[in-house]
Amino acid sequence: MDVKGTVALITGGASGLGAATARRLFDDGASVVLVDLPASAGDAFAAELNAGGTGRAESAEAGKALKRDNKAVFVPADVTDEAQVQAAVDAAVALGPLRIVVNCAGIGTPGKVLGRDGVLPLESFNRVIQINLVGTFNVTRLAAAAMAATEPAGTELGGPERGVIINTASVAAFDGQIGQPAYAASKGAVAAMTLPLARELARSLIRVVTIAPGIFETPMMAGLPQEAQDSLGRQVPHPSRLGRPAEYAKLAAHIVDNAMLNGETIRLDGAIRMGPKSPPRPRAPRHVRRPGCTPRARTLGAPKSAFPGPPVSVRAGEGWARGGRGGR
Ligand SMILES: NC(=O)c1ccc[n+]([C@@H]2O[C@H](COP(=O)([O-])OP(=O)(O)OC[C@H]3O[C@@H](n4cnc5c(N)ncnc54)[C@H](O)[C@@H]3O)[C@@H](O)[C@H]2O)c1
Repeated sequence: MDVKGTVALITGGASGLGAATARRLFDDGASVVLVDLPASAGDAFAAELNAGGTGRAESAEAGKALKRDNKAVFVPADVTDEAQVQAAVDAAVALGPLRIVVNCAGIGTPGKVLGRDGVLPLESFNRVIQINLVGTFNVTRLAAAAMAATEPAGTELGGPERGVIINTASVAAFDGQIGQPAYAASKGAVAAMTLPLARELARSLIRVVTIAPGIFETPMMAGLPQEAQDSLGRQVPHPSRLGRPAEYAKLAAHIVDNAMLNGETIRLDGAIRMGPKSPPRPRAPRHVRRPGCTPRARTLGAPKSAFPGPPVSVRAGEGWARGGRGGR
């Protein structure tokens, strides 16, 4: 599908993988509706895109000179809220034919069933499921209704289609680690609903594809010390580093373009297979260890539980739910 002249709705679009995808689709000529929490950086990011600076080093100057027909709009919304998501879909439809949805909103709050503070509160499990799974489904169903009402667009190679919905699972859907029962369950369900959604929406000429990322360099990762990031990167067989948000965006753009991709979950992970736990955290060199520190406090802040899931050392409250941190 040619994205030029279409509208893309991207949840979690103010940060990380969602922001990179919004930037990519915007650069390719789509209008983008960024759906994210009110406290996110969505407004500033939309303004940046509209100002014409694409942020791509090679095209920033060209981008400024370019007279664009496409727009970026931020719609603050919680993906679990029916009315707010409907308002976001309406805002997308007002810009043109809604043909692309990328569901990136998500949180990764970890929690062991039997943790240090006792049994995991049911509310904690529910919340991850609500945002990652129910939120993804909420956006999918309301956007699918709007897409189904559009005229099919023809492409030279792909044949007529109305749209494509890209959901984001995680390799935790398949290799969930200790402390990730909620996160792995939510992402496993996102992967599991891909085929039934694709089968049902086929008659409306809408495709559904899921990306299962490995460990990506998003704002949450950027908060980790370099040594911890390097340690995570070394767990990836090849290339032995964290994934870059632009690489997620590149796959999303390919999925949009390739009409034969449908009903599948694609791992984007450099061949990583997560073990039950992450390898031991790197220890601080002797000279920085303070007498009396517990072994936990002596670490350099490397995560106890590696991504995909928030590292214990940087989690604060709800991990991914903290909203955009400016890094895109
Ligand atoms: N970064 C990784 O390594 C990685 C790996 C596997 C899967 N993922 C998945 O990719 C997606 C994007 O992750 P990211 O790393 O870019 O995280 P991120 O924290 O940078 O972005 C997530 C965005 O979702 C938004 N959000 C959270 N709850 C929301 C809600 N209820 N309604 C609307 N927006 C909400 C946040 O405000 C944030 O802007 C998530 O679903 C995550 O589970 C990420």
